[in-house]
Amino acid sequence: MGYTSNGSDENNQQTDIGMLMLLLGKFVAWFYMVVSLIMTVMVLAWVRLGAVLHNGREILLQGFNWESHKHDWWRNLERKVPDIAKSGFTSVWLPPATHSFSPEGYLPQNLYSLNSSYGSEHLLKSLLQKMKQSKVRAMADIVINHRIGTVQGHGGKYNRYDGIPLAWSEHAVTSCTGGLGNRSTGDNFHGVPNIDHSQHFVRKDIIGWLKWVRNTVGFQDFRFDFARGYSAKYVKEYIEGAKPMFCVGEYWDSCNYNGQGLDYNQDSHRQRIINWIDGTGQLSAAFDFTTKGILQEAVKGQFWRLRDSQGKPPGVMGWWPSRAVTFLDNHDTGSTQAHWPFPSNHIMEGYTYILTHPGIPTVFYDHFYDWGDPIHDQIVKLMNVRRHQGIHSRSSIKILEAQPNLYSAIIGEKVCMKIGDGSWCPAGKEWTLATSGHRYAVWQK
Ligand SMILES: *[C@@H]1O[C@H](CO)[C@@H](O)[C@H](O)[C@H]1NC(C)=O
Ligand SMILES: *[C@@H]1O[C@H](CO)[C@@H](O)[C@H](O)[C@H]1NC(C)=O
Repeated sequence: MGYTSNGSDENNQQTDIGMLMLLLGKFVAWFYMVVSLIMTVMVLAWVRLGAVLHNGREILLQGFNWESHKHDWWRNLERKVPDIAKSGFTSVWLPPATHSFSPEGYLPQNLYSLNSSYGSEHLLKSLLQKMKQSKVRAMADIVINHRIGTVQGHGGKYNRYDGIPLAWSEHAVTSCTGGLGNRSTGDNFHGVPNIDHSQHFVRKDIIGWLKWVRNTVGFQDFRFDFARGYSAKYVKEYIEGAKPMFCVGEYWDSCNYNGQGLDYNQDSHRQRIINWIDGTGQLSAAFDFTTKGILQEAVKGQFWRLRDSQGKPPGVMGWWPSRAVTFLDNHDTGSTQAHWPFPSNHIMEGYTYILTHPGIPTVFYDHFYDWGDPIHDQIVKLMNVRRHQGIHSRSSIKILEAQPNLYSAIIGEKVCMKIGDGSWCPAGKEWTLATSGHRYAVWQK
């Protein structure tokens, strides 16, 4: 009996185990399916996030200067969208669109208010709509290093945010700038409360806000203002959270100088920018301040500066071109602030360099729209050569001449160019002149 009973028990047990195995099998299969679905979605999201960096065919327009807030800006830009699209810009960097203490937008307070000196929320939405229709992306200026408080808190400073969305206390402000948070993970922007990104609640709120900027307001790209102010690892977290299509950071510090002026070797300068890009998990590009600093000296008859000791371009573009956003001037370096301006009589040589070279070139609003139609049209011609010859951020480059008064190079084996007083033209009948002007010429195959 015992035996039978045992046998029966065994039998029952086997049935139970069989059932269990079947259920387990179903569960495993179901689990596997869900996991692989999640992974596919993640990979797709990732591919989308990286696609723009990968494709490398961006041409950016910085769509404002330091005075733009005085000129009904969203409406002004909306009128220019057809020309911006026709010229071949893929993205326009707009000034900070949120409510700010200063009219230029760089002292934000209420991050969820789109009422700024550039225009109302309604006009901004209308501009974004128009850009979308014209397939030009909008780049949001992300100012999250600092934030102006609404009421006085710890130490009598305006470091509390009562009465507005993201109503943080002094614990969201770094101790370096009078708050009750941790020390800053970067440099201080003096005179105002700097946000403590090491606080989990702060990062959660910022990611929520960035998602709103990306998905509800409808900006596709981000530009991180004063990226030296907080660790690059937080930028990585923000990009992974909000998934913009393209990002660029403003990591701006001084080039290396000696008694005679700018050093020939700026490797440590470009290395610091590259370290920042690396810190973002390689997800963000950075403005190539190294190239700007060197190029604006080179055009004054020192073109030897444009070839480094390895024979490469001397800026970030020479080392990591797919992450180097090149430019001549911005609202700080040029415009009415003119902190570090590009020599105005050499603008076209500068654009010939950045628009034919690897990297991701940016054209400054003032040069394109305020310096006269001839300059606008000459820049468009250079952009056309870039687009039609398929030059992109990773195109190959061979530097041929880097003399005091002459620089020449072949890019992507399909474009060659020269800048400077010296005369030069390519050998070989296959080259035809694509465009030229004072001290510059570009040929194509
Ligand atoms: C928008 O901003 C302007 C100027 O800063 C201000 O006068 C106006 O009251 C604001 N409107 C809203 C709805 O916040
Ligand atoms: C920052 O401060 C909080 C407490 O306010 C603490 O829990 C956290 O570990 C600190 N983080 C860092 C990175 O120091």
